[in-house]
Amino acid sequence: MHSFEYRNGTLFCENVDLAQLAIKTGTPTYVYSAETILDHYRRLDQALQEVPHLICYAVKANSNIGILNLFAKENAGFDIVSGGELFRVLKAGGKAAQCTFAGVGKTEAEIREALEHGILAFNIESEAELARINRVAATLDVKAPIAVRVNPDVDAHTHKYISTGKSENKFGIAFERVLGVYEAASKMSHIAIRGVQMHIGSQITKAGPFAEAVDKMLPLVNQLKELYGIEYFSIGGGMGIVYDPSLASGAAGWWENEADESLLTLEAYAGAIVPKLKTLGLKILVEPGRFMVGNAGVLLTQVQYIKKTETKKFVIVDAGMNDLIRPALYQSFHEIVPVTKNHPYGEAEKADIVGPVCESGDFFAQDRELPPIAEGDILAVMSAGAYGATMSSNYNSRRLPAEILVHGERAEVIRKRQTLDDLIDGESIPQ
Ligand code: LLP
Repeated sequence: MHSFEYRNGTLFCENVDLAQLAIKTGTPTYVYSAETILDHYRRLDQALQEVPHLICYAVKANSNIGILNLFAKENAGFDIVSGGELFRVLKAGGKAAQCTFAGVGKTEAEIREALEHGILAFNIESEAELARINRVAATLDVKAPIAVRVNPDVDAHTHKYISTGKSENKFGIAFERVLGVYEAASKMSHIAIRGVQMHIGSQITKAGPFAEAVDKMLPLVNQLKELYGIEYFSIGGGMGIVYDPSLASGAAGWWENEADESLLTLEAYAGAIVPKLKTLGLKILVEPGRFMVGNAGVLLTQVQYIKKTETKKFVIVDAGMNDLIRPALYQSFHEIVPVTKNHPYGEAEKADIVGPVCESGDFFAQDRELPPIAEGDILAVMSAGAYGATMSSNYNSRRLPAEILVHGERAEVIRKRQTLDDLIDGESIPQ
């Protein structure tokens, strides 16, 4: 579900009027619904109830400490990929002992810090990394908990930049080499084998690839349990969400009737894997990012100009690719709706919705049929809660947008809009 709906022609997030909120906070601004995030977390928790499990929220999807704190209060775990993310989790009230540390490029400093805080485990991406972790752990006289990330070589049928479980990707260790790596790990003085991990990609909209990957992994996981007494199997994240409601059946009110979605549902996801996972008798970790927060956020932006050329109509808005890079980077679709519906003027027309950044790739939609829109209108770019704010930048010296968390009637700023001084913070002119 998500908690964005029209009331009398105005878009609300929970009980907050987004037209008024945009006036109050200015634009561009990210707005998140706490209720939606908690609903997603609790429903996944419920769907996995037949296996002992820990949901490790993938921090990279949205790492605002206001969002992380929601998960911390639910006693969630966290999937982190840098020392910076560990820092955020701890600031937000999360527990290091429930953090898994992934990523192919962990530095010595990051490894040391993670060990000092006592994380749950490192996901090992290469033999060289394993050796480094053993070395750093020895200097601290501790045993480093690890799980090897297995590359199961299945096709997740997703965008090539976010597909990670194929053998040509840089991630994980090839299936055939995994046992050898565990054997080496078992002989290292400062390594403690704890689990095994996989992740096949992101925005996966069918249950099939998950089931295929689990099937492929089961014999190996059983073998590792026998040989090394592993305690858990982490199945990664990657559950896709609905970005384009016209692709989901029952399109018009899709968020009110999620059971109608033709895309991946929680029931289909859990139904395809839980019966298989149950046979293992191990703890199951999951690392969802997008599923938790994607449909829980929108980016509010104001129309600056309407520009008509001989061939095109451009709606130029005050958010840019620096605020939300997904359309530019992955040609991804985001639904775009006016915050106030039913303007009296004009006809629905196709237009490109573009930002002010000096790049032709700076668009949110191309040739999109939009209701009548005029200068000054506020638009909501939907499903922007995941990989939106976290991938934003200061390109074109644009200040990072504000972020607001809504819960019921309350709308709290969880990140102030950057100031001009913030833009040059840390810079200096050489003497
Ligand atoms: N676990 C691992 C090891 C990952 O690499 C990722 C995402 C996740 C979990 C969480 O995946 P999710 O549940 O969110 O699909 N920036 C891209 C997505 C990149 C995903 C990277 N890895 C986008 O905007 O679509």
